[in-house]
Amino acid sequence: MSPPQQASPPPRSAARDAVLRDTPVATVDLDAVERNVARMQAYCDEHGLALRPHVKTHKLPELAHLQMRAGAVGITCQKLGEAEVMAAAGLTDILLSFPLVGDAKVERLVALAREVTMSVVGDSETVARGLSAGLARAGLEVAFLVECDTGFGRTGVQAPGDAADLAELVAGLPGLRFEGLMTYPTLTATGPWLRAAIDEISARGLEVRTVSGGGTPGFFSSHRAPELTEVRAGTYVYGDRSCIANGTVALEDCALRVHATVVSRPTVGRAILDAGSKTLSNDPAEGDPDGRGLIVEYPDARIHALSEEHGWVDLSACERRPEVGEVVTVVPNHACGCANLHDEVVVLRGGQVVGVWPVAARGRIR
Ligand SMILES: Cc1ncc(COP(=O)(O)O)c(C=O)c1O
Repeated sequence: MSPPQQASPPPRSAARDAVLRDTPVATVDLDAVERNVARMQAYCDEHGLALRPHVKTHKLPELAHLQMRAGAVGITCQKLGEAEVMAAAGLTDILLSFPLVGDAKVERLVALAREVTMSVVGDSETVARGLSAGLARAGLEVAFLVECDTGFGRTGVQAPGDAADLAELVAGLPGLRFEGLMTYPTLTATGPWLRAAIDEISARGLEVRTVSGGGTPGFFSSHRAPELTEVRAGTYVYGDRSCIANGTVALEDCALRVHATVVSRPTVGRAILDAGSKTLSNDPAEGDPDGRGLIVEYPDARIHALSEEHGWVDLSACERRPEVGEVVTVVPNHACGCANLHDEVVVLRGGQVVGVWPVAARGRIR
């Protein structure tokens, strides 16, 4: 299957306007996406790091192909369902950065691994043995990265010695090839932790070929952990209110925005948007856990609460105030959570609608 190269041609102008008028609607600014992708890729090229973007943010095969064309070595998916969508769309090198537990998952991995190059992660003997049994039975071999908890306190083996023990186990299992280490996110402690694990694994006669770190917030510090060979970032492609707060993506580069209409002005100080938690997601933003999105045209307005379909906006700090019927543009707190709520995104280039893309991997939580 040949990958899509660009957005579909612009629809006629009346139809084009209509897709933006019927709010709430999520838009993706391709110019901003390309700037973000180019910036991250340039950083990786400068520091000799492979970039393996996490596509859980956009869930769009079109953007995964764009990232590959810019120089990515492959993609990362969180869930098998996302990987199935991406593989069907022609993406051929996929790391699954989530532990696969149980026969149902292993069967689906086997089906995928017959079609494309898959690699997997795990932090336990149970996961490794389950994968090994299914893959060996199918006559397949897949690269395995030992997941390491280098300070985040989520998944991952807890000490460098545990990483070496699991690496040794995996190296002896059929169906798996010990490939290296993986961690999320990249923190200050990550480099020394990984160094200790690499030394221990090397001392046991095994080669650590890949060391994969991740996350947008620490992305531009990845070179400070010279153990890393690869980085997996997701959110950088769109940016969001958290990225603005932590300095990784500027407001003008925030590519995912939600167009919303003011549907009520019940008081002088209050506006209600037609975008609530089912449109923006209730995720908090770094630096401002109570705000629920940034209204670009009214930066002093504050979205302070969401019910499912209503967004509460406090206008008390605004000199200018929007009227009922006005359409505003909202940068969401968390791009990944917001993108997952939309069946489709309206794609813009130069401010013009150039296509409408189904968010093909949205909702693929299995
Ligand atoms: C395992 C893993 N890798 C990479 C990422 C990408 O992180 P970010 O979206 O901050 O770029 C995530 C995000 O949750 C993740 O869980």
